[in-house]
Amino acid sequence: MTLTSGIDGADVDPFEEFNRAMGATGDESPYPDLALARASAQIKEEVFDIPQVEGQEDPPGLRLFTAYSYDAVQTVLGDEHFSSAGYAEVMGLVFGHSILEMDEPEHKSYRGLIQQAFTRKAMERWEDEVVRPLINRMIDEFVADGKTDLVRNLLFPFPVNVIAELIGLPNEDLPRFHRLAVELIGVTVDMDRSIAASQALGEYFLELIRERRGGDGPDLMTVLANATGPHGEHLTDDEILAFLRLLLPAGAETTYRSSSNLMFGLLSNPEQLDALRNDPSLYPQAIEEGIRWEPPLLLIMRTATADVDVCGVSVPEGAMVIVSLGAANHDETRWNHPERFDIFRDRKPHIGFAYGPHMCLGMHLARMETKVALEVMFERLPNLRLDPEVGEQFISGMTFRAPPRLDVVWD
Ligand code: HEM
Repeated sequence: MTLTSGIDGADVDPFEEFNRAMGATGDESPYPDLALARASAQIKEEVFDIPQVEGQEDPPGLRLFTAYSYDAVQTVLGDEHFSSAGYAEVMGLVFGHSILEMDEPEHKSYRGLIQQAFTRKAMERWEDEVVRPLINRMIDEFVADGKTDLVRNLLFPFPVNVIAELIGLPNEDLPRFHRLAVELIGVTVDMDRSIAASQALGEYFLELIRERRGGDGPDLMTVLANATGPHGEHLTDDEILAFLRLLLPAGAETTYRSSSNLMFGLLSNPEQLDALRNDPSLYPQAIEEGIRWEPPLLLIMRTATADVDVCGVSVPEGAMVIVSLGAANHDETRWNHPERFDIFRDRKPHIGFAYGPHMCLGMHLARMETKVALEVMFERLPNLRLDPEVGEQFISGMTFRAPPRLDVVWD
Protein backbone atom coordinates (compact mmCIF):
# COMPACT_ATOMS: atom_id res chain seq x y z
CA MET A 1 0.00 0.00 0.00
CA THR A 2 1.11 3.54 -0.65
CA LEU A 3 0.17 6.55 1.37
CA THR A 4 -2.44 7.59 -1.13
CA SER A 5 -4.11 4.30 -1.86
CA GLY A 6 -7.03 4.60 0.54
CA ILE A 7 -7.09 2.03 3.30
CA ASP A 8 -6.67 -1.22 1.42
CA GLY A 9 -3.62 -3.27 2.07
CA ALA A 10 -4.12 -4.26 5.69
CA ASP A 11 -5.07 -7.88 6.42
CA VAL A 12 -8.72 -6.87 6.94
CA ASP A 13 -10.64 -4.11 5.22
CA PRO A 14 -10.92 -1.74 8.16
CA PHE A 15 -13.49 0.55 6.57
CA GLU A 16 -15.99 -2.21 5.75
CA GLU A 17 -15.53 -3.66 9.19
CA PHE A 18 -15.92 -0.30 10.86
CA ASN A 19 -19.03 0.60 8.89
CA ARG A 20 -20.67 -2.74 9.59
CA ALA A 21 -19.83 -2.57 13.26
CA MET A 22 -21.27 0.93 13.55
CA GLY A 23 -24.54 -0.48 12.14
CA ALA A 24 -24.34 2.00 9.27
CA THR A 25 -26.82 0.32 7.00
CA GLY A 26 -30.28 1.81 7.48
CA ASP A 27 -31.57 5.24 6.58
CA GLU A 28 -33.11 5.82 10.02
CA SER A 29 -33.02 9.38 11.34
CA PRO A 30 -33.10 10.59 14.94
CA TYR A 31 -34.46 14.01 13.93
CA PRO A 32 -38.25 13.36 14.02
CA ASP A 33 -38.01 12.07 17.61
CA LEU A 34 -35.68 14.89 18.60
CA ALA A 35 -38.21 17.42 17.24
CA LEU A 36 -40.97 15.88 19.38
CA ALA A 37 -38.75 15.89 22.46
CA ARG A 38 -37.72 19.50 21.86
CA ALA A 39 -41.34 20.53 21.49
CA SER A 40 -42.14 19.04 24.90
CA ALA A 41 -39.22 20.54 26.88
CA GLN A 42 -35.94 22.38 26.51
CA ILE A 43 -34.36 19.98 28.96
CA LYS A 44 -36.05 16.92 30.33
CA GLU A 45 -35.41 14.26 32.96
CA GLU A 46 -35.36 10.70 31.65
CA VAL A 47 -37.63 8.36 33.58
CA PHE A 48 -36.27 4.86 34.16
CA ASP A 49 -38.63 2.01 34.56
CA ILE A 50 -36.47 -0.14 36.85
CA PRO A 51 -38.44 -3.04 38.37
CA GLN A 52 -38.33 -3.05 42.15
CA VAL A 53 -36.63 -6.13 43.63
CA GLU A 54 -38.42 -7.44 46.69
CA GLY A 55 -36.56 -6.83 49.93
CA GLN A 56 -34.26 -4.28 48.36
CA GLU A 57 -34.41 -0.56 48.75
CA ASP A 58 -34.91 1.65 45.76
CA PRO A 59 -31.68 1.90 43.77
CA PRO A 60 -29.82 5.09 44.69
CA GLY A 61 -31.06 6.35 41.37
CA LEU A 62 -28.99 7.96 38.72
CA ARG A 63 -30.66 11.19 37.66
CA LEU A 64 -30.31 11.62 33.93
CA PHE A 65 -31.42 14.63 31.90
CA THR A 66 -31.29 15.39 28.18
CA ALA A 67 -30.79 18.96 26.94
CA TYR A 68 -32.59 19.47 23.62
CA SER A 69 -33.00 23.16 22.86
CA TYR A 70 -30.20 25.42 21.64
CA ASP A 71 -30.44 27.54 24.80
CA ALA A 72 -30.37 24.55 27.15
CA VAL A 73 -27.39 23.00 25.36
CA GLN A 74 -25.51 26.29 25.35
CA THR A 75 -26.28 26.86 29.05
CA VAL A 76 -24.98 23.42 30.07
CA LEU A 77 -21.80 23.69 27.99
CA GLY A 78 -21.06 27.21 29.19
CA ASP A 79 -21.66 26.63 32.92
CA GLU A 80 -18.63 25.79 35.07
CA HIS A 81 -20.82 23.60 37.28
CA PHE A 82 -20.98 20.94 34.58
CA SER A 83 -17.98 18.62 34.58
CA SER A 84 -16.51 16.49 31.79
CA ALA A 85 -14.83 14.09 34.23
CA GLY A 86 -17.46 11.39 33.55
CA TYR A 87 -15.72 10.57 30.26
CA ALA A 88 -12.88 9.01 32.26
CA GLU A 89 -14.89 5.88 33.01
CA VAL A 90 -15.09 4.59 29.46
CA MET A 91 -12.96 6.79 27.27
CA GLY A 92 -10.17 7.10 29.85
CA LEU A 93 -9.57 3.36 29.57
CA VAL A 94 -8.83 3.75 25.88
CA PHE A 95 -7.25 7.18 25.49
CA GLY A 96 -5.65 7.73 28.88
CA HIS A 97 -6.26 10.99 30.76
CA SER A 98 -7.21 13.14 27.77
CA ILE A 99 -8.22 16.79 27.50
CA LEU A 100 -11.85 15.76 26.99
CA GLU A 101 -12.22 14.58 30.59
CA MET A 102 -10.33 17.46 32.25
CA ASP A 103 -12.00 20.22 34.27
CA GLU A 104 -10.57 23.62 35.18
CA PRO A 105 -7.93 24.63 36.09
CA GLU A 106 -6.11 21.55 34.71
CA HIS A 107 -7.95 21.79 31.40
CA LYS A 108 -6.94 25.38 30.71
CA SER A 109 -3.22 24.92 31.27
CA TYR A 110 -3.12 21.69 29.25
CA ARG A 111 -5.13 23.23 26.41
CA GLY A 112 -2.76 26.21 26.42
CA LEU A 113 0.18 23.89 25.74
CA ILE A 114 -1.60 21.85 23.07
CA GLN A 115 -2.80 24.97 21.29
CA GLN A 116 0.81 25.94 20.57
CA ALA A 117 0.71 23.33 17.80
CA PHE A 118 -2.47 24.76 16.21
CA THR A 119 -1.42 28.30 15.29
CA ARG A 120 -2.63 30.21 12.24
CA LYS A 121 0.86 29.89 10.78
CA ALA A 122 0.83 26.11 11.25
CA MET A 123 -2.58 25.97 9.58
CA GLU A 124 -1.29 27.85 6.52
CA ARG A 125 1.73 25.61 6.25
CA TRP A 126 -0.37 22.43 6.67
CA GLU A 127 -2.77 23.61 3.98
CA ASP A 128 -0.04 24.17 1.36
CA GLU A 129 2.45 21.48 2.30
CA VAL A 130 0.29 18.64 3.62
CA VAL A 131 -3.42 18.83 2.94
CA ARG A 132 -3.59 20.00 -0.69
CA PRO A 133 -0.83 17.72 -2.02
CA LEU A 134 -2.30 14.80 -0.08
CA ILE A 135 -5.82 15.09 -1.45
CA ASN A 136 -4.45 15.53 -4.96
CA ARG A 137 -2.42 12.33 -4.60
CA MET A 138 -5.46 10.48 -3.29
CA ILE A 139 -7.61 11.67 -6.22
CA ASP A 140 -4.85 10.65 -8.68
CA GLU A 141 -5.56 7.04 -7.71
CA PHE A 142 -9.13 6.98 -9.04
CA VAL A 143 -9.60 10.04 -11.25
CA ALA A 144 -9.34 8.02 -14.46
CA ASP A 145 -12.18 5.69 -13.39
CA GLY A 146 -14.96 8.28 -13.84
CA LYS A 147 -16.76 6.91 -10.79
CA THR A 148 -16.04 6.02 -7.17
CA ASP A 149 -17.44 5.58 -3.70
CA LEU A 150 -16.35 8.97 -2.40
CA VAL A 151 -16.62 8.01 1.28
CA ARG A 152 -14.58 4.85 1.12
CA ASN A 153 -11.92 6.01 -1.32
CA LEU A 154 -11.47 9.63 -0.33
CA LEU A 155 -13.36 11.17 2.56
CA PHE A 156 -12.81 8.37 5.09
CA PRO A 157 -9.05 7.83 4.63
CA PHE A 158 -8.26 11.53 3.98
CA PRO A 159 -8.34 12.90 7.58
CA VAL A 160 -6.52 9.83 8.93
CA ASN A 161 -3.83 10.47 6.33
CA VAL A 162 -3.74 14.16 7.31
CA ILE A 163 -3.16 13.24 10.96
CA ALA A 164 -0.47 10.71 10.02
CA GLU A 165 1.33 13.40 8.02
CA LEU A 166 0.88 16.08 10.68
CA ILE A 167 2.37 13.75 13.29
CA GLY A 168 5.13 12.95 10.81
CA LEU A 169 4.77 9.14 10.66
CA PRO A 170 7.09 7.21 8.35
CA ASN A 171 5.32 5.98 5.19
CA GLU A 172 6.03 2.32 5.80
CA ASP A 173 4.11 2.45 9.11
CA LEU A 174 0.90 3.75 7.57
CA PRO A 175 -1.01 0.50 6.87
CA ARG A 176 -0.58 -0.59 10.47
CA PHE A 177 -1.43 2.92 11.72
CA HIS A 178 -4.66 2.88 9.69
CA ARG A 179 -5.74 -0.46 11.03
CA LEU A 180 -5.01 0.51 14.65
CA ALA A 181 -6.74 3.86 14.11
CA VAL A 182 -9.95 2.19 12.95
CA GLU A 183 -9.82 -0.34 15.79
CA LEU A 184 -9.23 2.44 18.32
CA ILE A 185 -12.21 4.51 17.21
CA GLY A 186 -14.44 1.42 17.32
CA VAL A 187 -14.47 1.75 21.12
CA THR A 188 -18.26 1.56 21.34
CA VAL A 189 -18.36 -1.69 19.34
CA ASP A 190 -15.40 -3.69 20.67
CA MET A 191 -13.87 -2.29 23.81
CA ASP A 192 -11.19 -4.99 24.22
CA ARG A 193 -9.93 -4.59 20.69
CA SER A 194 -9.95 -0.83 21.07
CA ILE A 195 -7.88 -1.02 24.28
CA ALA A 196 -5.40 -3.39 22.58
CA ALA A 197 -5.10 -0.98 19.63
CA SER A 198 -4.60 1.89 22.04
CA GLN A 199 -1.75 0.04 23.77
CA ALA A 200 -0.08 -0.82 20.48
CA LEU A 201 -0.36 2.78 19.31
CA GLY A 202 0.95 3.97 22.67
CA GLU A 203 4.11 1.86 22.43
CA TYR A 204 4.66 2.95 18.85
CA PHE A 205 4.12 6.67 19.58
CA LEU A 206 6.25 6.58 22.72
CA GLU A 207 9.36 5.61 20.81
CA LEU A 208 8.77 8.45 18.37
CA ILE A 209 8.12 11.01 21.14
CA ARG A 210 11.40 10.10 22.84
CA GLU A 211 13.27 10.45 19.57
CA ARG A 212 11.76 13.87 18.97
CA ARG A 213 12.22 15.51 22.37
CA GLY A 214 14.66 18.37 21.87
CA GLY A 215 14.25 18.24 18.07
CA ASP A 216 13.21 21.23 16.02
CA GLY A 217 11.09 19.63 13.27
CA PRO A 218 7.75 21.24 12.31
CA ASP A 219 5.65 18.08 12.86
CA LEU A 220 2.93 18.02 15.51
CA MET A 221 4.70 15.45 17.67
CA THR A 222 7.94 17.45 17.85
CA VAL A 223 6.02 20.67 18.57
CA LEU A 224 4.10 18.98 21.40
CA ALA A 225 7.23 17.28 22.77
CA ASN A 226 8.87 20.71 23.07
CA ALA A 227 5.87 22.92 23.98
CA THR A 228 6.59 25.09 27.03
CA GLY A 229 4.06 26.63 29.43
CA PRO A 230 4.30 30.06 31.12
CA HIS A 231 6.15 28.52 34.11
CA GLY A 232 8.52 26.46 31.96
CA GLU A 233 6.38 23.32 32.22
CA HIS A 234 6.37 20.64 29.49
CA LEU A 235 3.89 17.98 28.48
CA THR A 236 4.74 14.54 29.88
CA ASP A 237 4.93 11.46 27.64
CA ASP A 238 1.51 10.32 28.90
CA GLU A 239 -0.06 13.72 28.21
CA ILE A 240 1.24 13.72 24.65
CA LEU A 241 0.13 10.13 24.15
CA ALA A 242 -3.40 10.83 25.38
CA PHE A 243 -3.65 13.73 22.95
CA LEU A 244 -2.31 11.80 19.96
CA ARG A 245 -4.71 8.91 20.60
CA LEU A 246 -7.63 11.31 20.97
CA LEU A 247 -6.79 12.89 17.62
CA LEU A 248 -8.11 9.81 15.85
CA PRO A 249 -11.73 9.87 17.06
CA ALA A 250 -11.77 13.63 17.66
CA GLY A 251 -9.97 14.71 14.52
CA ALA A 252 -10.31 11.98 11.92
CA GLU A 253 -13.68 10.37 12.54
CA THR A 254 -15.58 13.65 12.97
CA THR A 255 -14.02 15.21 9.88
CA TYR A 256 -14.68 12.21 7.63
CA ARG A 257 -18.29 12.16 8.79
CA SER A 258 -18.88 15.91 8.48
CA SER A 259 -17.28 16.23 5.04
CA SER A 260 -19.27 13.19 3.83
CA ASN A 261 -22.50 14.68 5.20
CA LEU A 262 -21.75 17.99 3.49
CA MET A 263 -21.05 16.26 0.17
CA PHE A 264 -24.29 14.31 0.56
CA GLY A 265 -26.19 17.58 1.11
CA LEU A 266 -24.56 19.23 -1.90
CA LEU A 267 -24.91 16.27 -4.26
CA SER A 268 -28.57 15.88 -3.29
CA ASN A 269 -29.15 19.59 -4.00
CA PRO A 270 -27.35 20.14 -7.33
CA GLU A 271 -28.40 23.80 -7.60
CA GLN A 272 -26.54 24.52 -4.34
CA LEU A 273 -23.58 22.48 -5.54
CA ASP A 274 -23.45 24.56 -8.75
CA ALA A 275 -23.70 27.81 -6.82
CA LEU A 276 -20.77 26.79 -4.64
CA ARG A 277 -18.69 25.61 -7.58
CA ASN A 278 -19.19 29.00 -9.24
CA ASP A 279 -18.63 31.14 -6.16
CA PRO A 280 -15.89 30.07 -3.74
CA SER A 281 -16.88 32.88 -1.35
CA LEU A 282 -19.75 30.57 -0.36
CA TYR A 283 -17.41 27.90 1.06
CA PRO A 284 -17.51 29.04 4.70
CA GLN A 285 -21.30 29.18 4.88
CA ALA A 286 -21.66 25.85 3.06
CA ILE A 287 -19.25 24.16 5.47
CA GLU A 288 -21.02 25.58 8.55
CA GLU A 289 -24.45 24.63 7.17
CA GLY A 290 -23.24 21.06 6.62
CA ILE A 291 -22.21 20.80 10.27
CA ARG A 292 -25.42 22.47 11.49
CA TRP A 293 -27.65 20.26 9.34
CA GLU A 294 -25.93 16.92 9.97
CA PRO A 295 -23.37 17.18 12.78
CA PRO A 296 -21.15 14.08 12.78
CA LEU A 297 -21.51 13.62 16.54
CA LEU A 298 -24.97 14.11 18.01
CA LEU A 299 -24.41 13.65 21.72
CA ILE A 300 -21.87 14.64 24.35
CA MET A 301 -22.04 14.24 28.15
CA ARG A 302 -21.68 16.35 31.28
CA THR A 303 -22.23 15.83 35.04
CA ALA A 304 -23.59 18.52 37.38
CA THR A 305 -21.21 19.37 40.25
CA ALA A 306 -23.81 21.56 41.98
CA ASP A 307 -27.55 22.19 41.73
CA VAL A 308 -28.01 24.24 38.57
CA ASP A 309 -31.01 25.88 36.93
CA VAL A 310 -31.12 25.18 33.19
CA CYS A 311 -33.90 27.00 31.33
CA GLY A 312 -36.14 26.84 34.41
CA VAL A 313 -35.45 23.16 35.19
CA SER A 314 -33.51 22.30 38.34
CA VAL A 315 -30.70 19.86 37.60
CA PRO A 316 -29.41 18.43 40.91
CA GLU A 317 -25.77 17.90 41.83
CA GLY A 318 -24.56 14.49 40.59
CA ALA A 319 -27.07 14.30 37.71
CA MET A 320 -25.77 13.39 34.29
CA VAL A 321 -26.82 15.39 31.26
CA ILE A 322 -26.90 14.13 27.70
CA VAL A 323 -26.18 17.21 25.63
CA SER A 324 -27.94 16.77 22.30
CA LEU A 325 -25.94 18.79 19.78
CA GLY A 326 -28.12 17.28 17.05
CA ALA A 327 -31.36 18.49 18.64
CA ALA A 328 -29.91 21.95 19.36
CA ASN A 329 -28.74 22.36 15.78
CA HIS A 330 -32.32 21.73 14.60
CA ASP A 331 -33.99 24.11 17.05
CA GLU A 332 -36.84 25.69 15.10
CA THR A 333 -36.87 28.77 17.33
CA ARG A 334 -33.46 29.58 15.80
CA TRP A 335 -33.66 28.20 12.24
CA ASN A 336 -36.64 27.99 9.89
CA HIS A 337 -37.17 24.51 8.45
CA PRO A 338 -34.10 23.25 10.32
CA GLU A 339 -34.31 19.84 8.61
CA ARG A 340 -33.52 21.46 5.25
CA PHE A 341 -29.98 21.74 3.95
CA ASP A 342 -29.67 25.33 2.75
CA ILE A 343 -26.30 26.99 2.31
CA PHE A 344 -28.08 30.32 1.75
CA ARG A 345 -29.89 30.51 5.09
CA ASP A 346 -29.16 33.42 7.46
CA ARG A 347 -25.87 32.70 9.16
CA LYS A 348 -26.06 32.05 12.89
CA PRO A 349 -23.56 30.10 14.95
CA HIS A 350 -24.44 26.39 15.29
CA ILE A 351 -23.29 24.20 18.15
CA GLY A 352 -21.84 21.21 16.24
CA PHE A 353 -18.35 22.07 17.52
CA ALA A 354 -19.78 22.42 21.07
CA TYR A 355 -19.41 25.61 23.13
CA GLY A 356 -17.53 26.85 26.21
CA PRO A 357 -14.12 25.69 27.44
CA HIS A 358 -14.15 22.36 25.55
CA MET A 359 -15.27 23.85 22.25
CA CYS A 360 -13.51 21.93 19.48
CA LEU A 361 -9.81 22.64 19.44
CA GLY A 362 -9.48 21.40 15.87
CA MET A 363 -12.32 23.32 14.24
CA HIS A 364 -10.06 25.50 12.09
CA LEU A 365 -8.22 22.42 10.89
CA ALA A 366 -11.52 20.65 10.13
CA ARG A 367 -12.79 23.66 8.17
CA MET A 368 -9.53 23.97 6.25
CA GLU A 369 -9.45 20.26 5.37
CA THR A 370 -13.04 20.41 4.15
CA LYS A 371 -12.49 23.57 2.11
CA VAL A 372 -9.41 22.14 0.40
CA ALA A 373 -11.20 18.84 -0.25
CA LEU A 374 -14.09 20.71 -1.92
CA GLU A 375 -11.78 22.90 -4.00
CA VAL A 376 -9.72 19.99 -5.28
CA MET A 377 -12.76 17.76 -5.91
CA PHE A 378 -14.46 20.48 -7.96
CA GLU A 379 -11.27 21.13 -9.91
CA ARG A 380 -10.35 17.51 -10.60
CA LEU A 381 -13.79 15.84 -10.88
CA PRO A 382 -15.78 17.95 -13.38
CA ASN A 383 -19.56 17.82 -13.20
CA LEU A 384 -19.40 15.69 -10.06
CA ARG A 385 -22.82 14.17 -9.34
CA LEU A 386 -24.54 11.24 -7.64
CA ASP A 387 -24.30 8.04 -9.67
CA PRO A 388 -27.75 7.75 -11.35
CA GLU A 389 -27.32 3.97 -11.66
CA VAL A 390 -27.22 3.52 -7.91
CA GLY A 391 -30.39 3.42 -5.83
CA GLU A 392 -31.26 5.92 -3.13
CA GLN A 393 -28.28 7.08 -1.09
CA PHE A 394 -28.64 8.19 2.52
CA ILE A 395 -27.07 9.28 5.79
CA SER A 396 -27.14 6.69 8.54
CA GLY A 397 -26.68 6.44 12.32
CA MET A 398 -28.34 7.62 15.53
CA THR A 399 -25.33 8.91 17.52
CA PHE A 400 -22.62 9.27 14.88
CA ARG A 401 -23.89 10.11 11.43
CA ALA A 402 -22.49 9.75 7.91
CA PRO A 403 -23.48 8.19 4.60
CA PRO A 404 -22.20 4.57 4.58
CA ARG A 405 -21.16 5.18 0.97
CA LEU A 406 -21.48 7.95 -1.61
CA ASP A 407 -21.43 6.69 -5.19
CA VAL A 408 -20.55 9.48 -7.60
CA VAL A 409 -19.64 9.94 -11.26
CA TRP A 410 -17.90 12.77 -13.16
CA ASP A 411 -17.06 13.59 -16.78
C1 HEM B 1 -16.17 18.78 11.65
C2 HEM B 1 -15.29 18.17 12.40
C3 HEM B 1 -15.33 18.21 13.91
C4 HEM B 1 -16.40 18.27 14.75
C5 HEM B 1 -17.89 18.37 14.39
C6 HEM B 1 -15.88 18.29 16.11
C7 HEM B 1 -16.66 18.36 17.26
C8 HEM B 1 -16.16 18.46 18.53
C9 HEM B 1 -16.98 18.55 19.73
C10 HEM B 1 -18.49 18.51 19.76
C11 HEM B 1 -16.14 18.65 20.79
C12 HEM B 1 -16.55 18.79 22.26
C13 HEM B 1 -16.57 17.46 22.97
C14 HEM B 1 -17.00 17.56 24.42
O1 HEM B 1 -16.83 18.60 25.03
O2 HEM B 1 -17.53 16.59 24.95
C15 HEM B 1 -14.79 18.62 20.27
C16 HEM B 1 -13.66 18.71 21.04
C17 HEM B 1 -12.40 18.51 20.54
N1 HEM B 1 -12.03 18.38 19.23
FE1 HEM B 1 -13.23 18.43 17.62
N2 HEM B 1 -14.51 18.21 16.05
C18 HEM B 1 -14.14 18.17 14.73
C19 HEM B 1 -12.84 18.11 14.24
C20 HEM B 1 -11.71 18.09 15.00
C21 HEM B 1 -10.36 18.01 14.47
C22 HEM B 1 -9.96 17.99 13.00
C23 HEM B 1 -9.53 17.94 15.54
C24 HEM B 1 -8.06 17.84 15.44
C25 HEM B 1 -7.23 18.47 16.12
C26 HEM B 1 -10.35 18.02 16.75
C27 HEM B 1 -9.88 18.00 18.04
C28 HEM B 1 -10.67 18.19 19.17
C29 HEM B 1 -10.14 18.21 20.53
C30 HEM B 1 -8.68 18.04 20.91
C31 HEM B 1 -11.21 18.42 21.37
C32 HEM B 1 -11.19 18.53 22.90
C33 HEM B 1 -11.13 19.99 23.28
C34 HEM B 1 -11.21 20.20 24.78
O3 HEM B 1 -11.63 19.28 25.50
O4 HEM B 1 -10.84 21.30 25.23
N3 HEM B 1 -11.68 18.09 16.36
N4 HEM B 1 -14.83 18.52 18.90
